[in-house]
Amino acid sequence: MHKIGRNDLCWCGSGKKYKLCHAVFDDKLAQLKAKGEQVPSHTLLKTKEQLEGIRKAGKLNTEILDMVAEKIHAGMSTEEINTLVHEYTIAHGGIPAPLNYCGFPKSVCTSINDVICHGIPSADDVLQDGDIINVDVTTILDGYYADASRMFCIGKVSEDAKKLVEVTKEAVDLALAATKPWGHLGDIGEVISKHVYAHGYTVLHDIGGHGVGNGFHEDPYVCHIGKKGSGMLLVPGMVFTIEPMVNMGEEDFYQDAENGWTIYTEDGSLSAQWEYTVAITEDGVEIITH
Ligand code: MF3
Ligand code: CO
Ligand code: CO
Repeated sequence: MHKIGRNDLCWCGSGKKYKLCHAVFDDKLAQLKAKGEQVPSHTLLKTKEQLEGIRKAGKLNTEILDMVAEKIHAGMSTEEINTLVHEYTIAHGGIPAPLNYCGFPKSVCTSINDVICHGIPSADDVLQDGDIINVDVTTILDGYYADASRMFCIGKVSEDAKKLVEVTKEAVDLALAATKPWGHLGDIGEVISKHVYAHGYTVLHDIGGHGVGNGFHEDPYVCHIGKKGSGMLLVPGMVFTIEPMVNMGEEDFYQDAENGWTIYTEDGSLSAQWEYTVAITEDGVEIITH
C-alpha cells in the first residue's frame, strides 16, 4: 500500500481528505494483510466515478443480450448474431470489446454445443433445432467495460442439454448468493464446483472469471473451483466476472489450431456457460450485467 498523508486527498478520487475517507478502510486492509489475508491492491478497487461508468456499460451490455434473446432462432447464422450485436452496440455509443482484442476477428463470441468458449461467428455456422449456444457480449462505453454471457436453447433441445444449461445457471446464482464483502474468492469456487460435481458434470479450472471494468481482463483470476475461506479477500470496490464453463463430460479441452481462439471439449461433450459481471459493495453484491 502506498504512503499517503492523512491530510492529503484520498486515493479514491472522492475529493475528501484521506483521514475522512479511506484511512480507516486501509487500516482494516493492512491488519487483514498482516494476518495473512490476500488483499487486493488499490488498483483493483473501483472509484465511485469508475463504478458509475461501469454500471452504464453494464446496462447497455444487458440490453444487447436482451436484444439477442428476442431475435435468436433456428436458421440464423452466428454471423447474423455478430451483425446484430455490432450494430446495436455502435448505435448506442458503445464499442464491442471483442473486435480486434488480441486479434479476435469479430464483435461477439458464439459458442455452439461442444464449443466451450471463444467461438468465432461465421456465415457457415447456422443454428439448428436442438443446439445450445452461448452468446458472450462485452461492451465498452466511455472507456468502461462490462462482460456477460447467456445460454440459448434453439428449438427443442434434449432433456440432457437443458439440464446442463439449467445447472450451470444455478451454479452462478448460488455463487452470487455466496459472494459477500470480506468473504473470499474461494467461496465462489467452492459453491460452483460442488454444485457442478453433484450433477456429474465438470467445470474448467484453467479458464475462468476475471476482474473487469477499466479494462477487459484485469486481476484477479476468478477460479470456479476453490475452497471456502481461501484466495483473495472480497473487498468493496472490486468488480469481476463469474463465468463457469461446465462440461457434460470430462474437463479436458483443446484450442482450434487454425484460428487460435475457439476452445472445444476434448471428448466432444456439450458445454454450457453463463457469465455475470458483479461489483462488491459495502453490504453485498451488485449485478452489473447479466
Ligand atoms: N468475453 C470473454 C470473457 O468472458 C472473453 C472473450 S475474448 C475474445 O472473458 F477476444 F474472444 F472476445
Ligand atoms: Co469474462
Ligand atoms: Co465474456
